[in-house]
Amino acid sequence: MTDLRLGVNIDHVATVRNARGGDTPSPVRAAKLAEEAGADGITAHLREDRRHISDADIEALMAALKLPLNFEMAATEEMQAIALRHRPHAVCIVPEKREERTTEGGLEVARDENRLAHFIAPLREAGCRVSIFIAAEPAQIDAAARIGAQVVELHTGAYCDAHAAGDVATRDAELARITEMAAHAHDLGLEVHAGHGLTYDTVGPIAGLPEIRELNIGHFLIGEAIFRGLSPAIAEMRRRMEAARRVMR
Ligand code: PXP
Repeated sequence: MTDLRLGVNIDHVATVRNARGGDTPSPVRAAKLAEEAGADGITAHLREDRRHISDADIEALMAALKLPLNFEMAATEEMQAIALRHRPHAVCIVPEKREERTTEGGLEVARDENRLAHFIAPLREAGCRVSIFIAAEPAQIDAAARIGAQVVELHTGAYCDAHAAGDVATRDAELARITEMAAHAHDLGLEVHAGHGLTYDTVGPIAGLPEIRELNIGHFLIGEAIFRGLSPAIAEMRRRMEAARRVMR
């Protein structure tokens, strides 16, 4: 057992399903398998354009899962109403641009503090743990704490992209920034999560940060499942997370 949770993001099972418009592969089946393979939670992002996860998927996941669902959504009234209807264990507020391929940056909390404070209040009152997906920057972290979020999820995309590009200097600078900001968020009393773009090669240094309590990983795991199967792909990620955690101790 470890004190670092793994949330498996199943969005891209729905991406493959939607490529043909039928029922397979089923995100719920993938979530059940992830549950058996040792995931601590399931993450699904209901995008405004419904490009992968659908409203029916959220409904089915809520009914079928034993594990907590982390419901990712944009800060819109439509999504707030859906979240309040389902009351998932956790809600993660993410920025969303229609034209982007994936969630490119973190949420701009600092410039939208008032609106976001009002937006998350009913979600918290409904018992959802509210997380805000942000860049590892002091202004965003401080604003997330002020608006009453319980959790910040630090965006690891730039760190992972730099690693993939072989740009060691940028990768190390990004890692240093995430390291410092994880400690800063923890000092403010926020629970710290991280995610986006993580792979077997990039997960170790992030998993080794003592303040980080949860990683949310999707695209790489679903891709890796093609080659080794979903359960072994998740088991290997867990093994690497736990190895990094042991080194930290
Ligand atoms: N965390 C958040 C908030 C995300 O929006 C995403 C992507 O949907 C992830 C984690 C997972 O990223 P990836 O699919 O690249 O592992």
